Amino acid sequence: MYRIIRSLLFLFDPEKVHYFSMGILKSLCGVGIFNRMITNWFRPVSVPAKPFPSASLAAQLFKNCSNPVGLGAGFDKNAKYLRELKCLGFGFVEIGTVTPIAQDGNDKPRLFRLKKDFALINRMGFNNDGADAILERLKKWKEKNIPKHNGARFLVGGNIGKNKNTANEEAWKDYLTCFEILHPYVDYFVVNVSSPNTPALRALQDKESLRKIFTVLNEANNKIQKPKPILLKIAPDLEKSQVDDVIALIPEIELEGLIVANTTLDRSNLITGINELNKIGAGGLSGKPLQDKSTQMIRYIHEKTGNGFLIIGSGGIFTGADAQAKLDAGAALIQVWTGFVYEGPAIVKNISAYLAKRNKPKEA
Ligand SMILES: Cc1cc2nc3c(=O)[nH]c(=O)nc-3n(C[C@H](O)[C@H](O)[C@H](O)COP(=O)(O)O)c2cc1C
Repeated sequence: MYRIIRSLLFLFDPEKVHYFSMGILKSLCGVGIFNRMITNWFRPVSVPAKPFPSASLAAQLFKNCSNPVGLGAGFDKNAKYLRELKCLGFGFVEIGTVTPIAQDGNDKPRLFRLKKDFALINRMGFNNDGADAILERLKKWKEKNIPKHNGARFLVGGNIGKNKNTANEEAWKDYLTCFEILHPYVDYFVVNVSSPNTPALRALQDKESLRKIFTVLNEANNKIQKPKPILLKIAPDLEKSQVDDVIALIPEIELEGLIVANTTLDRSNLITGINELNKIGAGGLSGKPLQDKSTQMIRYIHEKTGNGFLIIGSGGIFTGADAQAKLDAGAALIQVWTGFVYEGPAIVKNISAYLAKRNKPKEA
C-alpha cells in the first residue's frame, strides 16, 4: 500500500512532500478517533531494551525507553510533530539540530532523492526556529505528556549545534546557550559537530574543540538538579586515527554515548550516475549506501569501548535485519531517517516485530 502512495509522493519535491505528509498526519492525529486508530494500527511489539551494564545517566535513561527504535535528528527539527511520531511507535525522537538563533538554512532545493540507491542527499544547513521558539513548543508538549513514574517512556532528545555565523572558536557558547535553554525539557542532549552542511563544523570534531565544548557543557550539567546524558554525534568520514582520538577522550570529557553516524560526503559505489550527482551538488548522503560504513564504525568503536558504553546506531536502517546488524555490531539502540521516507509509517512496527522475534528470551 505504502509503495503506491510513495510512488505518488516521489513525483514531487522532497522537502514539500515532507511538510505535506507530516501536515496530514498532524491533522489526523488531532482528531481523537483517528489518533487512536493510528496509534493502534502502528503500535509496535514490545522489544526488550538491550541492556548495557553501566551506572551512567544514559543507561538509567534508556533502560526505560519504550522502544529501541528512534528517529534521527533533522526530521522534526522544530519539535512540531512529537505527538504524531509517538503515534507511529517511535521510542525516542531527536529534535533539532537546534541553534541559538533561528536560521533559514541553505537555498532551496536542498533535499534530493537518489531513488536507485535508496538514498537522500541533503544540504539543509540547520534550518530551524531557534532555541527559544522550540523551547515554547517543548513546554506545551511536556505539560500534556507527564511521564508515568515507572512506566516505559517516550524520550525526546535535543540535538544542538552552532549558528552558521558563529566562528568555530566561539562555537562552545552556542552549544552552551542551547543546553541552558532546552535542558529542563529534553531527556538527553546530542552535540552535533558532524553535519557537512555548516561550513567548517566538522573541524569541531578535533580533540581541543571537543574538550572545550564538553568542559563547559559538563560544568553547566553538574550544576542542575537533574543532569542529562550528553552524547556526541560523529561523521562516518572520520579517519581511524580521529575515531581513536574520540575514544581516548571519552573518560576525560565524561562522554555518555556516541551516535554513529551522521551523513557521509562519500559518493563511491552509487548507482546514480555522475551527471545526476553533479546536478545535485554538495550535501550529506544518507540511506542504504551509508549502511555498511556506519555498521563497521559501530563495530570498531564497540570493540574498543566495551559493553558499558552507549552507542546509538544510525545510517541506512530500513528493515529489522538492518537494525539487528547495528545491534550485533554493538549499538544498544537505533535511529532511522531515510528508511522512514522509503519504507513509510510502518517502519517502527516492522523493525520492532523483527527484533522482538529475534531477541526473544530463551525459555528455561
Ligand atoms: C534531510 C536530512 C536532514 C538532517 N538533519 C540533521 C540535523 O539537523 N542534525 C543531525 O544531527 N543529523 C541530521 N541528519 C542526519 C540523520 O539524523 C541521520 O544521522 C543520517 O541521515 C543517517 O541515517 P539514515 O541513513 O537512516 O538517514 C539529517 C538527515 C537528513 C536526510
